[in-house]
Amino acid sequence: MDDLIIIGAGGFAKEIAFLLQRASEYNLIGFVDDEVSLSGQKLAGKPILGPINMLLSYDKPISVAIGIASSNVKKKIYSKLKKNQNINFPNLVDTTALVGVNVKLGIGNILMANSTYTADINIGDFNMINIGSTVGHDSNIGDFNSIFPSVNISGYVTIGNNNQIGVGTKIIQSICIADNSIIGAGSVVIQNIENNTKNVGVPTRIIESWE
Ligand SMILES: CC(C)(COP(=O)(O)OP(=O)(O)OC[C@H]1O[C@@H](n2cnc3c(N)ncnc32)[C@H](O)[C@@H]1OP(=O)(O)O)[C@@H](O)C(=O)NCCC(=O)NCCS
Repeated sequence: MDDLIIIGAGGFAKEIAFLLQRASEYNLIGFVDDEVSLSGQKLAGKPILGPINMLLSYDKPISVAIGIASSNVKKKIYSKLKKNQNINFPNLVDTTALVGVNVKLGIGNILMANSTYTADINIGDFNMINIGSTVGHDSNIGDFNSIFPSVNISGYVTIGNNNQIGVGTKIIQSICIADNSIIGAGSVVIQNIENNTKNVGVPTRIIESWE
């Protein structure tokens, strides 16, 4: 069993602890979080060990899961911690996830309970794909995306990097979602989503954009 530390001490971090309850490969030793008042407290029965920076000087092999949903925060944490060669960022795949044929994963992905991936799917690095979401055939998902619960991604969909896709969203086949976009809860996506835009509704409309 590999020792594993979760970064963050909020809701998503707790949900990773829930995933690990059923994963025989990892021994969860605790959490790290920059909120100093949390140090020494417990979450999901495990200690909050200290700030995230303590991992920079970790001198033994350790597996780490980033338990924070914000794409930008995940990115910053990874760019800092990758300097420590002792840190490994495994893919955590819930025992109830259905991972089909020719599904390729990079590193640091978290595939939550009851999510489904059918066939010929590429998933990059540090994506969160939350409970009950489905990814259809021939889809490509980039890096640092946060896909909230019960999102249905149809076949031949391409998703870039750093997107946040709200709970219950449905995306029809062959759609392209660019980078750095936000899609509100319960959206239905029937047209491509542009870079740096916030989109909501059935079907989606842009409510905000930025450079
Ligand atoms: C889209 C979202 C990010 C909010 O963005 P925001 O900039 O704070 O938006 P506001 O709340 O100011 O709303 C702006 C407009 O969009 C509408 N809107 C916001 N979210 C919406 C949604 N999901 N669906 C439809 N309309 C929505 C608001 O009603 C408002 O409309 P109005 O201008 O006609 O009054 C948020 O509402 C959302 O859906 N987040 C997803 C969260 C999620 O999935 N969490 C799961 C955690 S596990």
